[in-house]
Amino acid sequence: MTAGGVRAAPEHAPGRTPVGMVRMSGNESPSGPLPAALRVMMDAVRDVHRYPDTVSADLVHALAEHLRVPPETVTVGPGSSALLQRLLAAVCTRTDDELLVPDPAFQAYRLFAAHAGAPVRTVALSTDWAVDLDAVAAAIGPSTRVVVISNPHNPTGTIAGQQQLRRFLAAVPADVLVVLDEAYVEYAAEGLADGVALAKERWAGGHDNVAVTRTFSKAYGLAGLRVGYAIAPPMLAAELAASALPFEVSGVGQAAALASLVSRERMRARCDLTAAERARVLDALREQGFVPPPSHANHVWLPVGEDAARFERHCRDFGIAVLAYPGLGVRITLGSRADNDLMLAAARAWASGAGERTP
Ligand SMILES: Cc1ncc(COP(=O)(O)O)c(C=O)c1O
Repeated sequence: MTAGGVRAAPEHAPGRTPVGMVRMSGNESPSGPLPAALRVMMDAVRDVHRYPDTVSADLVHALAEHLRVPPETVTVGPGSSALLQRLLAAVCTRTDDELLVPDPAFQAYRLFAAHAGAPVRTVALSTDWAVDLDAVAAAIGPSTRVVVISNPHNPTGTIAGQQQLRRFLAAVPADVLVVLDEAYVEYAAEGLADGVALAKERWAGGHDNVAVTRTFSKAYGLAGLRVGYAIAPPMLAAELAASALPFEVSGVGQAAALASLVSRERMRARCDLTAAERARVLDALREQGFVPPPSHANHVWLPVGEDAARFERHCRDFGIAVLAYPGLGVRITLGSRADNDLMLAAARAWASGAGERTP
C-alpha cells in the first residue's frame, strides 16, 4: 500500500512491437552486439550463478581512461535511464524543484521527473526542429534545478555544436544542473559535439553543475543488456553511487560493455554505415516532398504535423513500426538497407496520395 494510493505514471512508449513487424520505433541498432561482445558474453554467462562486481570497477576504469576523466567521476548503471532518474532524484529534493526540458524530447524524462516528484516545464523547439538553447536558458526560473538536453536530440536528430553549448552552459546559473544526454553521440561526426569535453572545461573553471550521460544501448547494440554511464562531478557521482542497488549491472552486461569499448573501431565503422544510410534516406524523403531536418543520430524526423498518427498507421500497413508524436511528426529509426527501402516505399506511397490524410 502506498500512502497516497497508486500514482499515475506518465505515458512512456513500451518496447513491444507486434511479431513480424519491422521495428523502426525504438532507436535501437539493427546490427546486434559487436562480435567481441558476443564472444565474452558467452563466457560470462557461465558465471551467472555468482553476483557481479557491484561497482563495475573494470568498466569504470576503462571508461575513465578512454574519456580522460578521473574514475571517481564515472558511474555505471543499468542503462543511462537509471542514471538520469537518479540525477533528477539527487537534485530535485524539495517539492517545487523543477525539471526543464525541450519539447518534444525523450518521453521518459517525464517519468524520471515523476519518480522524483518534480514538476516538468518545457520549452518549444525552434522552427527548424532544433533545441532552442537561448530559449531554454531564458526559461530557467527560480524553481528550476535540472535542465536535460539530449544532444543529438531525440526525436528530431538535430545537434547543438560545441560553441553553442559552451555559450549555453555559461548562461546557466550555478545552482542549476545541466545534464547533457548523449545517448546518440556516437552517430554524430567526430568532434561536432562532445559533452564530456565541455563538462571537463566547466569543472576546471570551478563550475560543478554539468553532467553527461551516455549508453551502450544504441551504437554499441546492447540495449537489452542495460548498461549506461554518467560522468558527473565527484560529489554528484558519490550520490549516484549511494542510490544504486547492489549488483544492478549484470556480469554479462559489464563484460559485453567492456569488450565493446575495446572494440570501438568496429562500432565506429557501423556508425559510418548508419551515417551513409541516413544521408541516402534523407535525400530520398526530400525528393518525395517531405521536409525532414538534418539528423546526426540513428533516426530521422518527419514533421507531418496533424498527420502523425495516420502516417504511423500507414506504415503499420506496410509492416513497419515507427513512433508518432501526435500533432507534430514521426520518428523513424534507421534500420538495415532493406528495412530503410521498405520504409521509403511506404513514404513514397503516402507522398503519392495513398493513405488516409487530415480531412
Ligand atoms: C535521449 C535518450 N536518452 C536516454 C535513453 C535511454 O537509454 P538507455 O536507458 O537504454 O541507456 C534513450 C533511449 O531511447 C534516449 O533516446
